[in-house]
Amino acid sequence: MRDPAPVQDLLDWYDRNARRMPWRISPSDRSAGIRPAPYRIWLSEVMLQQTTVAAVKSYYEAFTSRWPTVTDLAAAEDADVMAAWAGLGYYARARNLLKCARAVAEDHAGVFPETREGLLSLPGIGPYTAAAVSAIAFDLPETVVDGNVERVMARLHDEHTPLPTAKPILTQMATALTPQDRPGDYAQAVMDLGATICTPRKPACGICPWRTACAAWEAGTAAELPKKLPK
Ligand code: ADE
Repeated sequence: MRDPAPVQDLLDWYDRNARRMPWRISPSDRSAGIRPAPYRIWLSEVMLQQTTVAAVKSYYEAFTSRWPTVTDLAAAEDADVMAAWAGLGYYARARNLLKCARAVAEDHAGVFPETREGLLSLPGIGPYTAAAVSAIAFDLPETVVDGNVERVMARLHDEHTPLPTAKPILTQMATALTPQDRPGDYAQAVMDLGATICTPRKPACGICPWRTACAAWEAGTAAELPKKLPK
């Protein structure tokens, strides 16, 4: 029988294996009530869109040393921010970053709104970033869905509907699993699982905390999922 309580197994795995990242609070600090500054989570999540964790680290350190708060960033010269962003690519992200920082500084007294809706009302914050900041910074039970999460869900449920048709189905699966307790760690745990074990090619099913919960493992189909429609 498949594991009926996969979320707890994933959180236990995350407690032992969480990747260290400069913007992350460790699971033990988080359980002691420490929360990351929403500015730091927002900045890291914007940088991580279309850029790898390894490439983002030094940019993140440079930004947070130079502009430690959202109010500092809001007061920066456009040209300085664009220059600091150089190399990360997708320059519209940097322009949106500044617009958002200025909206938080000017319209919200420098404090990020603490709801998904409030975050969505800010320029440049879409559903992904709003969910990530809500879950990771505020521990709200919002569901973060990126490519890693879609792949993990397709395999966990042995879902063969191809992407992008499968997107709403996979989002629903991820939402159904999101716990009320520790949603921020859950969000990061699924992303870490997708990045380190449930990888696109040659998934390391032998060491996966979800192996006994995974329908694709049982069916022997993990490596072929998710299916994709030809572009
Ligand atoms: N990719 C984007 N955001 C991430 C996060 N918070 N943890 C791991 N991988 C990520």
